[in-house]
Amino acid sequence: MPKPSALLTRAIPGPGIELLQQKCDLIIWDKDSVASRDWLLEHIAHADGILCLLTDSIDTVVLDAGKSLRVVSTMAVGYDNIHVTECTRRGIPVRHTPGVLTETTADFAFALLMTAARRIVEGDSYVKQGHWQSWSPTVLLGHDLHGGTLGIVGLGRIGQAVAKRAQGFGMRILACRSPSQSHGKNENGPGIEHVDFSTLLAESDFVSLHVPLTKETRHLVGHAELRSMKHTAMLINTARGPVVDSQALYHALSHGEIAYAALDVTDPEPLPSDDPLLSLSNCVIVPHIASASIATRGKMAVVAVENLFAGLAGARLPYCANPEVYQPQPDLI
Ligand code: GLV
Repeated sequence: MPKPSALLTRAIPGPGIELLQQKCDLIIWDKDSVASRDWLLEHIAHADGILCLLTDSIDTVVLDAGKSLRVVSTMAVGYDNIHVTECTRRGIPVRHTPGVLTETTADFAFALLMTAARRIVEGDSYVKQGHWQSWSPTVLLGHDLHGGTLGIVGLGRIGQAVAKRAQGFGMRILACRSPSQSHGKNENGPGIEHVDFSTLLAESDFVSLHVPLTKETRHLVGHAELRSMKHTAMLINTARGPVVDSQALYHALSHGEIAYAALDVTDPEPLPSDDPLLSLSNCVIVPHIASASIATRGKMAVVAVENLFAGLAGARLPYCANPEVYQPQPDLI
């Protein structure tokens, strides 16, 4: 039997590529960069499956070109880069990699929280720029996490894992599952106060974002929301860049509306070298690495490969972003 044909849009860590080569006719973008659109459109035309990354836009143009596509597997938990509704309409399951990156991403959100609160990046620059002349009782004073209030926006797997860490640090924890929903008290265990979005913004010393990027969450944090936060508040974003309005964030940080931001994700990614956020000393930016531990990226790659194989075999597995694909679609009956 001929092997199915699969596209891999960039090298992935671990044994995944070898497994793909054994089981598929594999075409791989072999540069250490985002696969070009032309390459994608040329090769998707003959592919039964694609293993893509969050940097690949799998939109209607790509799906139109992918006439024999049977599965889209992405090595990420977020899948806002994929037109899921169009995949569903075409009967193509979309599989992602939730679960395996939860704890690693929560660790990193907490690392950003501590970096912001305790001015770690500023301290590093202070030393390397030769300002450290002596111990000083007043230099680089930060904020305590213990006793502080953490607002978690989006109480899915990662949000809950962040809450667990905050409990260990003796923080008060406010949460809203999603900005538009209200939920019962203690729904995710004791120690979390469920509040509405505006209360969370007004009362938190630290706000950490954990919602997926959707039409509803794009620019969820804009001028009004930033203005409603404490002047001393710090914003942590390990979700998706466009959840925050970047211009509003720049304005808020440069006018003292909030104190600090620590961003793993930006809009766009990467930021152009003249982006004003890059000029701010109260904004730490790292290159979308919250899930980037050696072990976790390896696990994500394995899950993405297994998802691709399952999709090619027509098997129904968990981690499907559009389980409705298995129901008959009204306009296709
Ligand atoms: C990373 O941002 C992911 O969605 O896995």
